Amino acid sequence: MRVVRALKCLTLIHILLCCESLPLRRMQFVIQHTWDSDPVNHDPIRIDFSPGEGGLKIEMFGPFFNEPAAPAGPPSQPFPGLWDYEVVESFFLDSTTENYLEVEFCPHGQHLILLLSGVGKAFQQQLPMVFNATITGDRWMGEALLPWSYLPPNINKMNSYAIHGSGEKRTYEALYSIPKEEIVEGLKPNFHRLEYFQNFSLQSIMGEGWIQPESDLWKGKP
Ligand SMILES: *[C@@H]1O[C@H](CO)[C@@H](O)[C@H](O)[C@H]1NC(C)=O
Ligand SMILES: *[C@@H]1O[C@H](CO)[C@@H](O)[C@H](O)[C@H]1NC(C)=O
Repeated sequence: MRVVRALKCLTLIHILLCCESLPLRRMQFVIQHTWDSDPVNHDPIRIDFSPGEGGLKIEMFGPFFNEPAAPAGPPSQPFPGLWDYEVVESFFLDSTTENYLEVEFCPHGQHLILLLSGVGKAFQQQLPMVFNATITGDRWMGEALLPWSYLPPNINKMNSYAIHGSGEKRTYEALYSIPKEEIVEGLKPNFHRLEYFQNFSLQSIMGEGWIQPESDLWKGKP
């Protein structure tokens, strides 16, 4: 009996230790609202962040609207003005300096990176990135590796967005949307409203002790 109990106990300890060391570091975010806090009327778009080789792995899954048509550029390449197409976007911000990175992904495979310092003030654009997108019927998924050097130091906030449709049907969606009570007549979607971003840290993905590698791209920024 004692042996059995001891074995059971050992097994339990083993399970606990195993689970303890599992990298529970994938963070999932689901975009459930429009920019002005209405619920989205489709299966929501999901964005996952996890540790990657030399950078942050970003995966996205969602419906493929196929509207507007694909940008006239090759897949896996940067495409300027990608925000005018069907896109999923993530913004990573240091709210104390207003240094932030905007990364955009298109189901047709194009991508766009902007480094900004101050609201809307881009100082670097169209950096290369490994990004794959696959369309399967009316859904798509994408996988990217965002190099650490692109991310500003001391990120403490994040927001993510998705856009699709054309003309009157153009739809702007936000992970952290503007609360209904703050929506006033004539207000337009603006993804650079940094005050609505919410807490986020790379350490919650990479582990508490993780230190972000220094980056020359952000040298001299406040
Ligand atoms: C992109 O696709 C290639 C070829 O299928 C694969 O080797 C690579 O790991 C993919 N990269 C990412 C970031 O998904
Ligand atoms: C966000 O982070 C700040 C600073 O660490 C903290 O004071 C605040 O409570 C956090 N807010 C939420 C909603 O967790």
